[in-house]
Amino acid sequence: MMTIREYFNSKAPIWDEVIAAKDGAKLGALAARLDIASGWWVLDVGTGTGVFVPHLLKRMDGGRLVCVDIAEEMLKRARAKNFPQNVEYLHADVVSLPLSEGIFDAVVCYSSFPHFQDKPGALAEMRRVLKEGGRLFICHSASREEINNIHRSIPAVEQDVLPDGAEMYQMLRAAGFDDIGVEDSPGGYFASAVKR
Ligand SMILES: C[S@@+](CC[C@H](N)C(=O)[O-])C[C@H]1O[C@@H](n2cnc3c(N)ncnc32)[C@H](O)[C@@H]1O
Repeated sequence: MMTIREYFNSKAPIWDEVIAAKDGAKLGALAARLDIASGWWVLDVGTGTGVFVPHLLKRMDGGRLVCVDIAEEMLKRARAKNFPQNVEYLHADVVSLPLSEGIFDAVVCYSSFPHFQDKPGALAEMRRVLKEGGRLFICHSASREEINNIHRSIPAVEQDVLPDGAEMYQMLRAAGFDDIGVEDSPGGYFASAVKR
């Protein structure tokens, strides 16, 4: 059985052409829902080839964007896109981030959360690197049902499911987050929470 890292490394060469979400308007609308302000420090977890990066940068106007991924072949393609200098790349597992505590205004997981094998560990680590008052966003441009159906049809990721609203709420509470909201509709899945 392939690890998640091996699976995404194997998909990296065809990711942008065949797999990545291409509806720019949809991604832009999703990014607009993120409460991100100018100058913020943002961590994008599961960046992949950087599909969501231009949409995040539009909201940030400066600041610092750190792009993390466990699959180095995906990250290599993000790096090759030559995003502005305030974008950095980090090859790491979300459960063990080589980053200081309390430095980010926002952590974003776009289309990546279902693939985190240790979800409580990932949430704890993402909370650790957030400032007090910092926000976590877990978002997808399709509904939970659509995402889970796609994953169930691919053996390497068939177990990688997006929790329903109640489960996600419980997981976020257990990790110590407050101000939790979870919305799931045909247009997308959007969870947010705050580190108090
Ligand atoms: C479905 S892809 C999404 C990539 C990109 N956000 C996009 O929408 O095109 C999920 C990404 O999460 C990354 N990932 C999975 N588990 C991870 C982990 N534990 N730590 C960091 N990244 C992880 C994968 O390597 C992959 O690049």
